[in-house]
Amino acid sequence: MKYVISSTYDEMSIEAAKYVADAIKAKPDIVLGLPTGGTPVGMYKELVRLHKEEGLDFSKVRTFNLDEYLGLDSDHPQSYRYFMETNLFSHVNIKKENIHFLSGIAEDPNEECLRYEKAIADVGGIDLMILGIGTNGHIGFNEPANCLQANSHLVALAQSTIEANARFFEKKEDVPTRAVTMGVGSILRSKEIILLASGKSKQDAIYGTTNGVVTLDLPASLLQLHRDVTLFLDEEAAAKIKK
Ligand code: F6R
Repeated sequence: MKYVISSTYDEMSIEAAKYVADAIKAKPDIVLGLPTGGTPVGMYKELVRLHKEEGLDFSKVRTFNLDEYLGLDSDHPQSYRYFMETNLFSHVNIKKENIHFLSGIAEDPNEECLRYEKAIADVGGIDLMILGIGTNGHIGFNEPANCLQANSHLVALAQSTIEANARFFEKKEDVPTRAVTMGVGSILRSKEIILLASGKSKQDAIYGTTNGVVTLDLPASLLQLHRDVTLFLDEEAAAKIKK
């Protein structure tokens, strides 16, 4: 595992965006795996700036988002698709047909997950997967459990995740309790993975991602089995591993 530790969230976001921009320049038709959530907002903002001010070209870039809430249509303001439009897609020259998402309103979510895995395989897999991490160590919506699903699947969200995500909704009861998500295998099959984490609340999860122990109690610990992972952290998120 490699580490890029920055003193602030803003610096971390710029470092991560620079890394992604370099990857796009090296392979203009790169296949990216993308997260939503609070953490990547600064990175997306910087990628938009790099597009607008420095001509970073998204015209051939292909994307697969990690997850989507079940029951939310793509134009629902709290859907992850809507988040991506607002934070990235509508500000850069990415082609609509190159954006891929698990649908939250598919009639048969299991079929939808199979379709998604096939779509990823059809483009030759994900080149660069970008991840956030939950305070409980989840990646995508792969929550701590006795067993984990390798491929994209339907999942019930952990209570702690519902509580953490309630900040984006009017009230906690509005947070969907289920989602469709890439599995840990879909993530680990990516050629390269970067993970972003910021703030004290992520210290323990980052420690568990790097301490040499692989456990399903902390799904991100499986990243230790991958040969090309870089963590982009701010000082607070890195505090425990620096000790
Ligand atoms: C979102 C996702 C989640 C988040 C995680 C951290 O697409 O896959 O695993 O990355 O919940 O969320 P934030 O960044 O809001 O702390």
